[in-house]
Amino acid sequence: MDQNQKEKLLQAAVEGSQNAHCPYSRFRVGAAVLTKSGKVFKGGNIENVSYGATVCAERVAIWKAVSEGEKEFVAIAVVGPGTSEGYPCAQCRQVMVEFGLDWLVISGNAEGKYLGEMTVGDLVPFAFTPDALLGGD
Ligand code: THU
Repeated sequence: MDQNQKEKLLQAAVEGSQNAHCPYSRFRVGAAVLTKSGKVFKGGNIENVSYGATVCAERVAIWKAVSEGEKEFVAIAVVGPGTSEGYPCAQCRQVMVEFGLDWLVISGNAEGKYLGEMTVGDLVPFAFTPDALLGGD
């Protein structure tokens, strides 16, 4: 992915944040996942008055993709409040691991400015991967 593609995905994540439902935390997050087939799925965090039912923006975007039959990912852009690079929560990281270690998590601010990137594998060292249940060694 070149820088221009990363910035476009960050802008899609900003769009995802526009439909976030976050009346409790007011912490507005957006995500956009790019599939190997070239499609983009966007999401925002969706909170619930029963706090534990809240879903992060990253999982909304990933589940939208998976529910449309897309499971091979190139990158996910994540935008939110804050001026230094921020990365997904541990639950979202585990959901990412389900779909491979070798794809990119791009971090941006609320306006979609690029702040940094890491692979899923970098974010989850010693990951519990599907191989553990499906074989592979
Ligand atoms: N949140 C996300 O959407 N993504 C993250 O990676 C971290 C947290 C949301 C969940 C909740 O709606 C709010 O941010 C505060 O935790």
